[in-house]
Amino acid sequence: MMISHIIKFFLFFFIFISITSLSFALSSEYSLSSNSNSDKFYSSDEQVYELFQLWKKDHGKEYENSEENAKRFETFKSNLKHINEMNAKRKSPTQHRLSLNKFADLSPEEFSKTYLQETPSNYGDRKLQDEDGDCENLPLSVDWRKKGAVTEVKDQGNCQSHWAFSVAGTIEGLNKIVTGNLINLSAQELVDCDPASHGCAGGYYFNAFGWVINNGGIDTEADYPYTAKNGTCKENANKAVSIDNLLVLDGSEEALLCRTSKQPVIVSLDATGLQFYAGGVYGGENCKKNSRNATLVGIIVGYDSVDGEDYWIVKNSWGKDWGEKGYLLIKRNVIKEWPYGVCAINAAVGYPIKEVLSSAM
Ligand SMILES: *[C@@H]1O[C@H](CO)[C@@H](O)[C@H](O)[C@H]1NC(C)=O
Ligand SMILES: *[C@@H]1O[C@H](CO)[C@@H](O)[C@H](O)[C@H]1NC(C)=O
Ligand SMILES: *[C@@H]1O[C@H](CO)[C@@H](O)[C@H](O)[C@H]1NC(C)=O
Repeated sequence: MMISHIIKFFLFFFIFISITSLSFALSSEYSLSSNSNSDKFYSSDEQVYELFQLWKKDHGKEYENSEENAKRFETFKSNLKHINEMNAKRKSPTQHRLSLNKFADLSPEEFSKTYLQETPSNYGDRKLQDEDGDCENLPLSVDWRKKGAVTEVKDQGNCQSHWAFSVAGTIEGLNKIVTGNLINLSAQELVDCDPASHGCAGGYYFNAFGWVINNGGIDTEADYPYTAKNGTCKENANKAVSIDNLLVLDGSEEALLCRTSKQPVIVSLDATGLQFYAGGVYGGENCKKNSRNATLVGIIVGYDSVDGEDYWIVKNSWGKDWGEKGYLLIKRNVIKEWPYGVCAINAAVGYPIKEVLSSAM
């Protein structure tokens, strides 16, 4: 039983390897081919059911009863179909691909309820900042991870705290650049304490930076650990890292590129198409070109190009088992087609400052 299980597992794996040529690391053994004949490997319900069983085992999924199991199987099947169809449309190995990841038993509606949130893409009362730094001769690529300014990818779990992790992570980057110390900062403190936001029901990142400024700082993750639940604000929390202000960009891609070369920046985007994202450069397949609507907050930690395609590197908080080890690569330099950037990623950009940084520039 066990042996045949393993053999089947490797068979699926082998099929996948043999018909897919990828320039990125594999993120999931369950990714299926980018080739339209993949359907024939799963032509029967029995075969899909076996795949479902393997997937459940690998993800430690157990359902309460057989009705729930049957319902999840239907969702899984429909997701598999969608994944195969989308992967079959890929035109190059660098284009984004989808896989049967940990979200494969959630319908897009269920996924959206738990992980996506309409995020207002306005700046509140923050004033626009003209680019103040030196923007000549920017490097062709930047990766703040390689400069030690990015902490590990977090997993928000069953709590819509992407906004809090992204605020904390953007401050982590600034703090490293200014002080030399990389410290995990507390997303939970923002979930519990920022009164303008709704904790695990979502929040507003521009406000949350304002909360950190008014509070005189944000605590460390070690002192104020993540629980993935709404909690009561701890009054005696430390103000381990402070910021002086939050500045915003006006949507210009040049300004965003320039700022990204100086520090990680916070952005929001429409992530409707990213439930099964497994890597490669996402071109905004599910987004409207003229929309400013956003559903997820993330951090741009760098930019690069592959085969002539320019992309941003975005840190997410859906765990390392999503995307490119927790990161999204999304197209940039397409401002003529996408007035607010792909999936509105340029529409509401912010970055915190510490006076030391601005006077050093
Ligand atoms: C941040 O926390 C993670 C656990 O989520 C840990 O593995 C990592 O070492 C911490 N990073 C730093 C810089 O303390
Ligand atoms: C968390 O608190 C917010 C209000 O701040 C509420 O809307 C939401 O339902 C709560 N979530 C949970 C899981 O209790
Ligand atoms: C943005 O979201 C609002 C509210 O959900 C919706 O009414 C509107 O049509 C969306 N705009 C675009 C361009 O998708």
